[in-house]
Amino acid sequence: MTNCLYYGDNLDVLGEYISDESVDLIYLDPPFNSKRNYNVLFKDTGGAESAAQVEAFSDSWHWGETSEKAYHLMTEYAPAKLVELMRGFRGFMGESDTMTYLTMMAIRLVELHRVLKENGALYLHCDPNASHYLKIILDIIFGGGGFQNEIVWYYKGAGISPKRYGRRHDIIFYYTKGVNWKFNADDVRVPYADTTKERFKHYIGNIRNGIDFGEQSLHPLGKHPDDVWEVPIIAPSAKERLGYPTQKPLELLRRIILASSNEGDIVLDPFCGCGTAIDAAQELNRQWIGIDITHLAIALIKNRLKDKYGDLPYRVIGEPVDLAGAEALAQANKHQFEWWALSLIGARPMGGKKKGADRGIDGVIYFQDDKTNKIKSILVQVKGGRQVGVAQIRDFCSVVDSNHAQMGVFITLAEPTKPMKSYAVSQGYYKPPIWDKQFPKIQIITIGDLLQNNKIERPPAYLTDKTFKQAERHKPEKQLEF
Ligand SMILES: C[S@@+](CC[C@H](N)C(=O)[O-])C[C@H]1O[C@@H](n2cnc3c(N)ncnc32)[C@H](O)[C@@H]1O
Repeated sequence: MTNCLYYGDNLDVLGEYISDESVDLIYLDPPFNSKRNYNVLFKDTGGAESAAQVEAFSDSWHWGETSEKAYHLMTEYAPAKLVELMRGFRGFMGESDTMTYLTMMAIRLVELHRVLKENGALYLHCDPNASHYLKIILDIIFGGGGFQNEIVWYYKGAGISPKRYGRRHDIIFYYTKGVNWKFNADDVRVPYADTTKERFKHYIGNIRNGIDFGEQSLHPLGKHPDDVWEVPIIAPSAKERLGYPTQKPLELLRRIILASSNEGDIVLDPFCGCGTAIDAAQELNRQWIGIDITHLAIALIKNRLKDKYGDLPYRVIGEPVDLAGAEALAQANKHQFEWWALSLIGARPMGGKKKGADRGIDGVIYFQDDKTNKIKSILVQVKGGRQVGVAQIRDFCSVVDSNHAQMGVFITLAEPTKPMKSYAVSQGYYKPPIWDKQFPKIQIITIGDLLQNNKIERPPAYLTDKTFKQAERHKPEKQLEF
Protein backbone atom coordinates (compact mmCIF):
# COMPACT_ATOMS: atom_id res chain seq x y z
CA MET A 1 0.00 0.00 0.00
CA THR A 2 1.47 3.34 -1.05
CA ASN A 3 -0.85 5.70 0.78
CA CYS A 4 1.52 7.50 3.06
CA LEU A 5 2.08 10.88 4.72
CA TYR A 6 5.63 11.91 5.47
CA TYR A 7 6.57 14.60 7.93
CA GLY A 8 9.84 16.22 6.90
CA ASP A 9 11.70 18.27 4.35
CA ASN A 10 10.71 16.85 0.97
CA LEU A 11 14.32 16.90 -0.22
CA ASP A 12 15.29 14.48 2.56
CA VAL A 13 12.14 12.37 2.26
CA LEU A 14 12.47 11.99 -1.50
CA GLY A 15 16.11 10.96 -1.16
CA GLU A 16 15.46 8.52 1.65
CA TYR A 17 12.16 6.89 0.75
CA ILE A 18 11.08 7.43 -2.85
CA SER A 19 12.76 5.26 -5.45
CA ASP A 20 13.63 6.16 -9.04
CA GLU A 21 10.78 6.17 -11.56
CA SER A 22 8.14 5.08 -9.04
CA VAL A 23 5.53 7.86 -9.26
CA ASP A 24 2.93 8.42 -12.01
CA LEU A 25 1.91 12.00 -11.28
CA ILE A 26 3.39 14.84 -9.26
CA TYR A 27 1.54 18.00 -8.27
CA LEU A 28 3.40 20.63 -6.30
CA ASP A 29 2.27 23.94 -4.90
CA PRO A 30 5.36 25.22 -3.12
CA PRO A 31 5.41 28.28 -0.91
CA PHE A 32 6.76 31.43 -2.49
CA ASN A 33 8.72 34.11 -0.71
CA SER A 34 6.69 36.99 -2.11
CA LYS A 35 3.73 35.72 -0.17
CA ARG A 36 4.81 34.94 3.31
CA ASN A 37 1.46 33.48 4.17
CA TYR A 38 1.92 30.76 1.53
CA ASN A 39 3.38 28.67 4.29
CA VAL A 40 0.65 29.53 6.73
CA LEU A 41 -2.15 27.07 7.04
CA PHE A 42 -4.21 28.88 9.63
CA LYS A 43 -5.67 32.25 10.18
CA ASP A 44 -6.49 33.20 13.72
CA THR A 45 -10.15 33.66 14.62
CA GLY A 46 -9.68 37.38 13.90
CA GLY A 47 -8.37 36.59 10.38
CA ALA A 48 -4.70 37.32 11.08
CA GLU A 49 -2.00 34.91 9.99
CA SER A 50 -1.11 32.43 12.69
CA ALA A 51 1.75 34.05 14.55
CA ALA A 52 3.36 30.71 15.34
CA GLN A 53 3.67 29.79 11.71
CA VAL A 54 4.87 33.19 10.61
CA GLU A 55 7.54 33.01 13.27
CA ALA A 56 8.51 29.47 12.34
CA PHE A 57 8.92 30.29 8.67
CA SER A 58 10.05 33.90 8.73
CA ASP A 59 13.67 32.99 8.01
CA SER A 60 12.94 30.43 5.30
CA TRP A 61 13.33 32.81 2.41
CA HIS A 62 16.54 34.63 3.11
CA TRP A 63 19.90 33.47 1.86
CA GLY A 64 21.72 31.66 4.62
CA GLU A 65 23.53 28.46 5.45
CA THR A 66 20.68 26.26 4.18
CA SER A 67 20.53 27.98 0.80
CA GLU A 68 24.31 27.89 0.46
CA LYS A 69 24.26 24.14 1.17
CA ALA A 70 21.39 23.58 -1.28
CA TYR A 71 23.25 25.61 -3.91
CA HIS A 72 26.38 23.58 -3.36
CA LEU A 73 24.45 20.30 -3.52
CA MET A 74 22.84 21.47 -6.72
CA THR A 75 26.20 22.25 -8.32
CA GLU A 76 27.38 18.71 -7.52
CA TYR A 77 24.27 16.84 -8.46
CA ALA A 78 22.19 18.72 -11.04
CA PRO A 79 22.65 18.46 -14.82
CA ALA A 80 25.50 20.68 -16.05
CA LYS A 81 23.18 23.02 -17.95
CA LEU A 82 21.13 23.65 -14.85
CA VAL A 83 24.24 24.41 -12.83
CA GLU A 84 25.24 26.89 -15.51
CA LEU A 85 21.81 28.51 -15.43
CA MET A 86 21.79 28.76 -11.65
CA ARG A 87 25.24 30.35 -11.70
CA GLY A 88 23.87 32.87 -14.16
CA PHE A 89 20.85 33.56 -11.93
CA ARG A 90 23.11 34.04 -8.94
CA GLY A 91 25.26 36.40 -10.99
CA PHE A 92 22.40 38.80 -11.62
CA MET A 93 20.14 38.19 -8.61
CA GLY A 94 22.87 37.92 -6.01
CA GLU A 95 21.81 36.25 -2.79
CA SER A 96 18.32 37.66 -2.92
CA ASP A 97 15.13 36.08 -1.60
CA THR A 98 14.21 35.07 -5.16
CA MET A 99 17.56 33.33 -5.58
CA THR A 100 16.95 31.54 -2.27
CA TYR A 101 13.61 30.36 -3.57
CA LEU A 102 14.94 29.25 -6.95
CA THR A 103 17.80 27.33 -5.35
CA MET A 104 15.34 25.56 -3.07
CA MET A 105 13.17 24.71 -6.07
CA ALA A 106 15.89 23.69 -8.53
CA ILE A 107 17.33 20.93 -6.39
CA ARG A 108 13.88 19.60 -5.53
CA LEU A 109 12.74 19.60 -9.14
CA VAL A 110 15.77 17.50 -10.07
CA GLU A 111 14.75 15.00 -7.38
CA LEU A 112 11.12 15.01 -8.50
CA HIS A 113 12.20 14.30 -12.06
CA ARG A 114 14.18 11.34 -10.74
CA VAL A 115 11.19 9.75 -8.98
CA LEU A 116 8.79 10.29 -11.89
CA LYS A 117 8.03 7.27 -14.10
CA GLU A 118 9.01 7.41 -17.74
CA ASN A 119 5.37 7.97 -18.74
CA GLY A 120 4.65 10.31 -15.81
CA ALA A 121 3.66 13.96 -15.60
CA LEU A 122 4.48 16.85 -13.29
CA TYR A 123 2.31 19.88 -12.58
CA LEU A 124 4.04 22.81 -10.89
CA HIS A 125 1.70 25.39 -9.41
CA CYS A 126 3.23 28.85 -8.99
CA ASP A 127 2.40 32.49 -9.31
CA PRO A 128 3.49 34.90 -12.05
CA ASN A 129 6.21 36.41 -9.81
CA ALA A 130 8.50 33.45 -10.36
CA SER A 131 6.92 31.39 -13.14
CA HIS A 132 9.27 32.67 -15.86
CA TYR A 133 12.36 31.59 -13.91
CA LEU A 134 10.84 28.24 -12.98
CA LYS A 135 9.96 27.51 -16.59
CA ILE A 136 13.59 27.79 -17.67
CA ILE A 137 14.60 25.45 -14.84
CA LEU A 138 11.90 22.95 -15.86
CA ASP A 139 12.86 23.18 -19.54
CA ILE A 140 16.40 22.17 -18.67
CA ILE A 141 15.39 19.35 -16.32
CA PHE A 142 12.69 17.87 -18.56
CA GLY A 143 14.46 18.52 -21.85
CA GLY A 144 13.07 19.93 -25.07
CA GLY A 145 9.94 17.80 -25.47
CA GLY A 146 8.87 17.91 -21.84
CA PHE A 147 6.87 21.11 -21.85
CA GLN A 148 3.18 20.49 -22.58
CA ASN A 149 1.20 23.44 -21.28
CA GLU A 150 1.29 26.60 -19.27
CA ILE A 151 -2.11 26.34 -17.66
CA VAL A 152 -3.65 29.58 -16.50
CA TRP A 153 -5.91 29.09 -13.53
CA TYR A 154 -8.22 32.08 -13.71
CA TYR A 155 -10.40 32.97 -10.76
CA LYS A 156 -12.62 35.85 -9.79
CA GLY A 157 -11.99 37.72 -6.59
CA ALA A 158 -11.96 41.01 -4.80
CA GLY A 159 -9.05 43.39 -4.21
CA ILE A 160 -7.46 45.44 -6.97
CA SER A 161 -4.72 48.02 -7.30
CA PRO A 162 -5.73 51.23 -9.12
CA LYS A 163 -2.24 51.18 -10.71
CA ARG A 164 -2.47 47.95 -12.70
CA TYR A 165 -4.80 45.25 -14.05
CA GLY A 166 -6.32 42.94 -11.48
CA ARG A 167 -4.10 39.95 -10.74
CA ARG A 168 -6.44 37.05 -11.12
CA HIS A 169 -4.52 33.98 -12.12
CA ASP A 170 -1.97 31.40 -11.08
CA ILE A 171 0.26 29.46 -13.42
CA ILE A 172 0.40 25.67 -13.49
CA PHE A 173 3.17 24.21 -15.66
CA TYR A 174 2.45 20.80 -17.11
CA TYR A 175 5.54 18.77 -18.06
CA THR A 176 5.95 15.14 -19.07
CA LYS A 177 9.00 12.95 -18.82
CA GLY A 178 9.07 10.45 -21.69
CA VAL A 179 7.20 10.16 -24.98
CA ASN A 180 4.27 7.96 -23.95
CA TRP A 181 2.53 10.06 -21.33
CA LYS A 182 -1.12 9.58 -20.41
CA PHE A 183 -3.60 12.27 -21.25
CA ASN A 184 -7.21 11.33 -20.56
CA ALA A 185 -8.84 14.20 -22.40
CA ASP A 186 -12.26 12.54 -22.34
CA ASP A 187 -12.26 12.57 -18.54
CA VAL A 188 -11.84 16.33 -18.38
CA ARG A 189 -13.87 17.62 -21.29
CA VAL A 190 -15.79 20.79 -20.59
CA PRO A 191 -19.25 21.94 -21.70
CA TYR A 192 -19.48 23.65 -25.10
CA ALA A 193 -20.53 27.27 -25.20
CA ASP A 194 -24.24 27.77 -25.95
CA THR A 195 -23.34 29.61 -29.17
CA THR A 196 -21.30 26.61 -30.37
CA LYS A 197 -24.16 24.24 -29.56
CA GLU A 198 -26.57 26.47 -31.47
CA ARG A 199 -24.26 26.70 -34.51
CA PHE A 200 -23.78 22.95 -34.66
CA LYS A 201 -27.52 22.32 -34.82
CA HIS A 202 -27.30 23.33 -38.47
CA TYR A 203 -25.12 22.49 -41.44
CA ILE A 204 -22.07 24.67 -40.87
CA GLY A 205 -20.63 24.72 -44.38
CA ASN A 206 -17.20 23.56 -43.34
CA ILE A 207 -15.34 23.51 -46.67
CA ARG A 208 -11.55 23.27 -46.53
CA ASN A 209 -9.31 22.89 -49.61
CA GLY A 210 -12.43 22.42 -51.67
CA ILE A 211 -13.66 19.50 -49.60
CA ASP A 212 -17.06 19.80 -48.00
CA PHE A 213 -16.90 18.13 -44.59
CA GLY A 214 -20.68 18.00 -44.48
CA GLU A 215 -22.49 17.82 -41.16
CA GLN A 216 -20.24 17.90 -38.14
CA SER A 217 -21.27 16.95 -34.69
CA LEU A 218 -20.05 17.96 -31.28
CA HIS A 219 -18.28 15.47 -29.04
CA PRO A 220 -20.89 13.93 -26.72
CA LEU A 221 -18.64 14.36 -23.67
CA GLY A 222 -17.96 18.03 -24.29
CA LYS A 223 -15.21 20.25 -25.60
CA HIS A 224 -11.53 19.34 -25.53
CA PRO A 225 -10.10 21.19 -22.52
CA ASP A 226 -8.02 24.33 -23.08
CA ASP A 227 -5.10 25.65 -21.09
CA VAL A 228 -7.14 28.38 -19.42
CA TRP A 229 -9.23 27.04 -16.57
CA GLU A 230 -11.80 29.10 -14.83
CA VAL A 231 -12.23 27.43 -11.48
CA PRO A 232 -13.66 29.48 -8.61
CA ILE A 233 -11.49 29.89 -5.55
CA ILE A 234 -13.09 28.27 -2.52
CA ALA A 235 -15.72 30.68 -1.23
CA PRO A 236 -15.32 31.65 2.44
CA SER A 237 -18.65 29.98 3.20
CA ALA A 238 -18.07 26.82 1.10
CA LYS A 239 -18.30 23.47 2.85
CA GLU A 240 -15.00 22.55 1.19
CA ARG A 241 -13.11 25.36 2.89
CA LEU A 242 -11.21 24.08 5.88
CA GLY A 243 -9.95 27.50 6.90
CA TYR A 244 -6.41 27.48 5.43
CA PRO A 245 -5.43 30.43 3.27
CA THR A 246 -3.40 28.36 0.80
CA GLN A 247 -5.98 25.61 0.33
CA LYS A 248 -6.56 24.93 -3.38
CA PRO A 249 -9.95 23.95 -4.79
CA LEU A 250 -10.57 20.23 -5.08
CA GLU A 251 -11.91 20.78 -8.57
CA LEU A 252 -8.50 21.94 -9.77
CA LEU A 253 -6.81 18.83 -8.41
CA ARG A 254 -9.53 16.51 -9.70
CA ARG A 255 -8.94 17.88 -13.18
CA ILE A 256 -5.19 17.33 -13.02
CA ILE A 257 -5.48 13.85 -11.55
CA LEU A 258 -8.19 12.70 -13.96
CA ALA A 259 -6.29 13.99 -16.99
CA SER A 260 -2.85 12.65 -16.10
CA SER A 261 -3.34 9.41 -14.17
CA ASN A 262 -5.44 6.30 -14.08
CA GLU A 263 -7.09 4.48 -11.19
CA GLY A 264 -4.46 2.79 -9.00
CA ASP A 265 -1.67 5.13 -10.15
CA ILE A 266 0.56 6.85 -7.60
CA VAL A 267 0.10 10.61 -7.07
CA LEU A 268 2.77 12.52 -5.13
CA ASP A 269 2.38 15.96 -3.55
CA PRO A 270 5.69 16.98 -1.95
CA PHE A 271 4.29 20.25 -0.50
CA CYS A 272 0.94 18.84 0.52
CA GLY A 273 -0.32 21.52 2.95
CA CYS A 274 -3.83 20.68 4.08
CA GLY A 275 -3.94 17.82 1.60
CA THR A 276 -6.11 18.85 -1.36
CA ALA A 277 -4.18 16.62 -3.79
CA ILE A 278 -4.31 13.74 -1.31
CA ASP A 279 -8.05 14.14 -0.89
CA ALA A 280 -8.66 14.29 -4.66
CA ALA A 281 -6.41 11.26 -5.26
CA GLN A 282 -8.27 9.27 -2.61
CA GLU A 283 -11.63 10.29 -4.05
CA LEU A 284 -10.55 9.18 -7.53
CA ASN A 285 -9.11 5.83 -6.38
CA ARG A 286 -5.47 6.70 -6.92
CA GLN A 287 -2.70 5.81 -4.48
CA TRP A 288 -1.06 8.82 -2.86
CA ILE A 289 2.04 10.10 -1.11
CA GLY A 290 2.04 13.43 0.74
CA ILE A 291 5.03 15.22 2.25
CA ASP A 292 4.99 18.31 4.44
CA ILE A 293 7.54 19.98 6.63
CA THR A 294 5.10 20.82 9.42
CA HIS A 295 3.38 18.54 11.88
CA LEU A 296 0.52 20.95 11.66
CA ALA A 297 -0.14 20.07 8.01
CA ILE A 298 0.11 16.36 8.71
CA ALA A 299 -2.39 16.73 11.58
CA LEU A 300 -4.77 18.69 9.37
CA ILE A 301 -4.67 16.07 6.64
CA LYS A 302 -5.32 13.32 9.15
CA ASN A 303 -8.41 15.21 10.33
CA ARG A 304 -9.51 15.89 6.77
CA LEU A 305 -9.24 12.24 5.73
CA LYS A 306 -10.99 11.03 8.87
CA ASP A 307 -13.88 13.47 8.48
CA LYS A 308 -14.37 12.64 4.81
CA TYR A 309 -13.53 8.94 4.50
CA GLY A 310 -13.70 7.53 8.04
CA ASP A 311 -10.93 5.12 9.03
CA LEU A 312 -8.73 4.82 5.97
CA PRO A 313 -5.63 2.63 6.04
CA TYR A 314 -2.45 4.67 5.48
CA ARG A 315 0.94 5.19 7.11
CA VAL A 316 2.39 8.31 8.71
CA ILE A 317 6.17 8.43 8.70
CA GLY A 318 8.28 10.90 10.66
CA GLU A 319 6.04 11.45 13.69
CA PRO A 320 7.44 10.51 17.10
CA VAL A 321 6.16 7.09 18.11
CA ASP A 322 7.85 6.90 21.53
CA LEU A 323 9.20 9.15 24.27
CA ALA A 324 12.72 9.18 22.85
CA GLY A 325 11.34 10.42 19.51
CA ALA A 326 9.24 13.06 21.27
CA GLU A 327 12.26 14.24 23.25
CA ALA A 328 14.36 14.44 20.11
CA LEU A 329 11.67 16.54 18.41
CA ALA A 330 11.35 18.84 21.44
CA GLN A 331 15.11 19.41 21.37
CA ALA A 332 15.29 19.90 17.61
CA ASN A 333 12.37 22.23 17.04
CA LYS A 334 10.10 23.83 19.64
CA HIS A 335 7.34 24.77 17.18
CA GLN A 336 7.15 21.38 15.54
CA PHE A 337 7.04 19.71 18.95
CA GLU A 338 4.22 22.01 20.05
CA TRP A 339 2.22 21.44 16.85
CA TRP A 340 2.65 17.71 17.07
CA ALA A 341 1.68 17.63 20.77
CA LEU A 342 -1.36 19.81 20.08
CA SER A 343 -2.43 17.52 17.24
CA LEU A 344 -2.56 14.62 19.71
CA ILE A 345 -5.52 16.23 21.44
CA GLY A 346 -7.05 17.90 18.38
CA ALA A 347 -6.06 21.44 19.42
CA ARG A 348 -5.05 24.17 17.02
CA PRO A 349 -1.97 26.30 17.61
CA MET A 350 -2.04 29.89 18.85
CA GLY A 351 1.69 30.36 19.28
CA GLY A 352 4.03 33.13 18.29
CA LYS A 353 5.20 36.05 20.33
CA LYS A 354 2.33 36.28 22.77
CA LYS A 355 1.65 39.31 24.82
CA GLY A 356 -0.33 40.07 27.96
CA ALA A 357 -3.15 37.66 28.69
CA ASP A 358 -2.18 35.38 25.78
CA ARG A 359 1.21 34.60 27.24
CA GLY A 360 1.37 30.91 28.04
CA ILE A 361 -1.28 29.75 25.57
CA ASP A 362 0.10 27.42 22.94
CA GLY A 363 -3.12 26.02 21.57
CA VAL A 364 -6.86 26.05 21.84
CA ILE A 365 -9.85 23.79 21.35
CA TYR A 366 -13.09 25.60 20.62
CA PHE A 367 -16.43 24.02 21.29
CA GLN A 368 -20.12 24.77 21.70
CA ASP A 369 -22.11 22.86 24.24
CA ASP A 370 -25.36 24.71 24.58
CA LYS A 371 -28.08 26.05 22.34
CA THR A 372 -26.71 29.60 22.27
CA ASN A 373 -24.03 30.30 19.67
CA LYS A 374 -21.45 30.94 22.34
CA ILE A 375 -18.04 29.53 21.43
CA LYS A 376 -16.23 28.18 24.45
CA SER A 377 -12.60 27.25 24.77
CA ILE A 378 -10.12 24.86 26.28
CA LEU A 379 -6.70 26.52 26.43
CA VAL A 380 -3.62 24.38 26.04
CA GLN A 381 -0.05 24.81 27.17
CA VAL A 382 2.74 22.50 25.98
CA LYS A 383 5.99 21.97 27.87
CA GLY A 384 8.83 20.11 26.18
CA GLY A 385 11.39 20.65 28.97
CA ARG A 386 12.93 17.96 31.15
CA GLN A 387 11.46 19.43 34.36
CA VAL A 388 8.18 21.04 35.31
CA GLY A 389 6.99 22.50 38.60
CA VAL A 390 3.93 23.83 40.44
CA ALA A 391 4.71 27.46 39.58
CA GLN A 392 4.01 26.66 35.92
CA ILE A 393 0.60 25.21 36.72
CA ARG A 394 -0.26 28.21 38.89
CA ASP A 395 0.64 30.57 36.06
CA PHE A 396 -1.32 28.51 33.57
CA CYS A 397 -4.44 28.52 35.78
CA SER A 398 -4.35 32.30 35.99
CA VAL A 399 -4.05 32.49 32.18
CA VAL A 400 -7.10 30.22 31.84
CA ASP A 401 -9.02 32.41 34.29
CA SER A 402 -8.00 35.73 32.82
CA ASN A 403 -9.07 34.54 29.35
CA HIS A 404 -12.43 33.34 30.73
CA ALA A 405 -11.77 29.91 29.23
CA GLN A 406 -13.90 27.02 30.39
CA MET A 407 -11.01 24.57 30.78
CA GLY A 408 -7.24 24.19 30.48
CA VAL A 409 -4.95 21.34 29.44
CA PHE A 410 -1.27 21.24 30.37
CA ILE A 411 0.69 18.84 28.14
CA THR A 412 4.10 17.91 29.47
CA LEU A 413 6.96 15.74 28.31
CA ALA A 414 8.32 15.49 31.89
CA GLU A 415 6.33 13.74 34.63
CA PRO A 416 4.30 16.24 36.69
CA THR A 417 5.10 16.58 40.38
CA LYS A 418 2.61 15.79 43.20
CA PRO A 419 2.08 19.50 44.06
CA MET A 420 1.27 20.16 40.39
CA LYS A 421 -1.37 17.45 40.37
CA SER A 422 -2.91 18.66 43.65
CA TYR A 423 -3.02 22.26 42.41
CA ALA A 424 -4.75 21.15 39.20
CA VAL A 425 -7.35 19.12 41.13
CA SER A 426 -8.01 22.09 43.44
CA GLN A 427 -9.31 24.09 40.45
CA GLY A 428 -12.59 22.14 40.43
CA TYR A 429 -14.77 21.20 37.48
CA TYR A 430 -16.48 22.55 34.39
CA LYS A 431 -20.14 21.52 34.02
CA PRO A 432 -21.74 21.81 30.55
CA PRO A 433 -25.17 23.47 30.84
CA ILE A 434 -27.14 20.77 29.00
CA TRP A 435 -25.30 17.66 29.99
CA ASP A 436 -25.21 15.91 33.30
CA LYS A 437 -21.46 15.43 33.51
CA GLN A 438 -18.47 17.33 34.76
CA PHE A 439 -14.90 17.69 33.53
CA PRO A 440 -11.78 18.62 35.51
CA LYS A 441 -11.20 22.31 34.87
CA ILE A 442 -7.42 21.90 34.66
CA GLN A 443 -5.95 18.66 33.37
CA ILE A 444 -2.33 17.61 33.19
CA ILE A 445 -1.51 14.98 30.60
CA THR A 446 1.91 13.67 29.69
CA ILE A 447 3.23 12.94 26.22
CA GLY A 448 3.70 9.37 27.46
CA ASP A 449 -0.05 9.17 28.23
CA LEU A 450 -0.92 10.55 24.83
CA LEU A 451 1.40 8.11 23.06
CA GLN A 452 -0.48 5.33 24.84
CA ASN A 453 -3.63 6.74 23.35
CA ASN A 454 -5.02 8.18 26.58
CA LYS A 455 -7.36 11.09 26.00
CA ILE A 456 -8.20 14.30 27.77
CA GLU A 457 -11.63 14.62 29.36
CA ARG A 458 -13.69 17.18 27.49
CA PRO A 459 -17.23 17.82 26.27
CA PRO A 460 -17.70 15.45 23.33
CA ALA A 461 -17.29 16.51 19.74
CA TYR A 462 -20.93 15.93 18.89
CA LEU A 463 -21.71 19.05 20.80
CA THR A 464 -20.10 20.72 17.76
CA ASP A 465 -16.37 20.92 17.75
CA LYS A 466 -15.34 24.31 16.42
CA THR A 467 -11.58 23.83 16.51
CA PHE A 468 -11.09 22.76 12.90
CA LYS A 469 -13.60 23.17 10.13
CA GLN A 470 -14.68 19.71 9.10
CA ALA A 471 -14.32 18.20 5.63
CA GLU A 472 -17.59 17.13 4.08
CA ARG A 473 -18.23 13.38 4.22
CA HIS A 474 -17.32 11.65 0.94
CA LYS A 475 -20.21 10.47 -1.22
CA PRO A 476 -18.67 8.17 -3.85
CA GLU A 477 -21.48 8.67 -6.34
CA LYS A 478 -21.11 12.47 -6.25
CA GLN A 479 -20.79 13.98 -9.72
CA LEU A 480 -17.67 15.93 -10.62
CA GLU A 481 -18.28 19.63 -10.70
CA PHE A 482 -17.02 20.56 -14.11
C1 LIG B 1 1.15 26.52 -0.46
S1 LIG B 1 1.11 25.29 0.77
C2 LIG B 1 0.38 23.94 -0.09
C3 LIG B 1 -1.13 24.03 -0.07
C4 LIG B 1 -1.80 22.82 -0.66
N1 LIG B 1 -1.69 22.78 -2.09
C5 LIG B 1 -3.26 22.74 -0.23
O1 LIG B 1 -4.16 22.80 -1.09
O2 LIG B 1 -3.49 22.67 0.98
C6 LIG B 1 2.81 24.86 0.85
C7 LIG B 1 3.14 23.80 1.89
O3 LIG B 1 4.49 23.40 1.70
C8 LIG B 1 5.04 23.06 2.95
N2 LIG B 1 6.50 23.10 2.81
C9 LIG B 1 7.30 24.19 2.71
N3 LIG B 1 8.58 23.82 2.55
C10 LIG B 1 8.59 22.45 2.51
C11 LIG B 1 9.62 21.47 2.36
N4 LIG B 1 10.88 21.83 2.19
N5 LIG B 1 9.28 20.17 2.41
C12 LIG B 1 7.98 19.80 2.57
N6 LIG B 1 6.97 20.69 2.71
C13 LIG B 1 7.26 22.00 2.69
C14 LIG B 1 4.45 24.08 3.92
O4 LIG B 1 4.47 23.59 5.24
C15 LIG B 1 3.03 24.24 3.36
O5 LIG B 1 2.15 23.38 4.03
